[in-house]
Amino acid sequence: MKKVWWKHGVIYQIYPRSFKDSNHDGIGDINGITECLDYLQDLGIDGIWLSPLYRSPMYDFGYDVSDYCDIDPVFGTMRDFKHLVKEAEKRNIAIIMDMVFNHTSHLHPWFLESRSSKDNPKRDWYIWHPGKKRKVPNNWMAAFGGRAWEWDPLTQEYYLHLFTKQQPDLNWRNPNVKKAMFDVLRFWMDNGVKGFRFDVINLLVKDRQFRNNPYKLRFTNPRRHDQQLHIYDRNQPEAHEILKEMRILFDSYGTIMSVGEIYLDEGIRDSHLPASFLGNNDELHMNFNFSTMFASFNCYELRKIMIDWYEAIGGKGWPCYVFSNHDQSRAITRIAKNDLQKAKLLAVLLLTQKGTPFIYYGEEIGMVDGKFPYRYIQDPVGKKYWPFHTGRDKARTPMQWDATSYAGFSTAKPWLPVNPDYTRTNVALQSKNAESMLQFYRQLIALRKSRKELYAGEIEFLPGSDDVMLYKRVWNNDTCLVALNFSSSKRKINFDSTCRVLLSSYQKNIIDVQTITLDPFEAVICSK
Ligand code: GLC
Repeated sequence: MKKVWWKHGVIYQIYPRSFKDSNHDGIGDINGITECLDYLQDLGIDGIWLSPLYRSPMYDFGYDVSDYCDIDPVFGTMRDFKHLVKEAEKRNIAIIMDMVFNHTSHLHPWFLESRSSKDNPKRDWYIWHPGKKRKVPNNWMAAFGGRAWEWDPLTQEYYLHLFTKQQPDLNWRNPNVKKAMFDVLRFWMDNGVKGFRFDVINLLVKDRQFRNNPYKLRFTNPRRHDQQLHIYDRNQPEAHEILKEMRILFDSYGTIMSVGEIYLDEGIRDSHLPASFLGNNDELHMNFNFSTMFASFNCYELRKIMIDWYEAIGGKGWPCYVFSNHDQSRAITRIAKNDLQKAKLLAVLLLTQKGTPFIYYGEEIGMVDGKFPYRYIQDPVGKKYWPFHTGRDKARTPMQWDATSYAGFSTAKPWLPVNPDYTRTNVALQSKNAESMLQFYRQLIALRKSRKELYAGEIEFLPGSDDVMLYKRVWNNDTCLVALNFSSSKRKINFDSTCRVLLSSYQKNIIDVQTITLDPFEAVICSK
């Protein structure tokens, strides 16, 4: 078997604004990331997914792109980027770009042209509609608040935006849009990029007739967007055709990886939808399944999500796992309620599944959600929905490198406040402490790397109990057993033969056992 970096490796997401500031403006940048590559190599990761670095007016912090083939000056230059790719390559780390294909910025030259007149050649690159008797064309709502349609007085038509009005949706039914975007992919692949993460990729194509979305029968969420069943504004069959063509393009380049964000409404657990965008091994290589992210700290629930996910995928693609990203409360806060032992258990669960694990910056040191008052809020979602939804800034606070001012992230005041716990939770301190979260992640990743059964083997869930999850990872004659105690009391497990404990989340010594008593929330990996 050949080791494939994206299948058998570990991927690390960086939110560039918040990782490391090299030019003292309070905002993280590309050269900052390059400075930290040794740290990431030490951690043992194989790829870095970078949230958008492209030119952008930053209404949605880069998810509103005004030039797909250039770097925003706030992050650096194209030269800095090429340097990063080269330095990463030296360390066997692949660079993955974030592709925002559903929409552009309203300041993208394509949109400026499109809105300039009804007969402009780019008019049809976006989704325009005259409306119905001077009213919006249908009931679609924007995910970030209000109607999804914006009236444009100049040409007297509405344009569609499923996010903010500064993010007009592209019309992917127009073949020229596809052609332009495929050129963007070529541009980055020619510049050494090895993979892509596709933003809200299931939103790409909308119903041709713009039919109204039906409303759910029951709902508790006060946001109208979340009260609708999103039948017509996403998940259209034509999107699969586009992804198939894209896969052909990737395959012509060799080892390019693609991973899709399959947008699920908050709290929804659905493995079949993300699995469907794998096609039959001929669409995206992997898709995020947010079911894990929306789960609670519950053995039964998590086990079911994992099993459903494997079943939904079958042989049609490769699984991947994620607990945290730049849009959600961090798993340590959301799922583990800031309990370090619970967070270590989640780390073991993430890094011992069959499939590619995605770690979000700071997860490896146990960074928790930030908490700050309204005046610091930057995220458009937080600004709109405060205090019902406090926005996504909480998961985007500056990386905590050391105990100096601003946590060593910057010498200037950062764009978002640093978590006050940085004097206790930081890389420098944890590097010296054998029992720290960081050392645990390092050991865990190293163990995963050293054992085929862990990075490539099959998975088999064992009966376990209500609060102990048990599974095997198997490669030929090699077997690892993983036991996770979700309970706040001790739990005893009897193995059928002697096992060696390779790693414990209590960082105990290696021992041979036939019976093991797990401490509260303890996770162990044993070899048979
Ligand atoms: C995705 C991104 C999110 C962004 C949205 C609109 O969900 O992860 O950060 O705001 O798409 O592009």
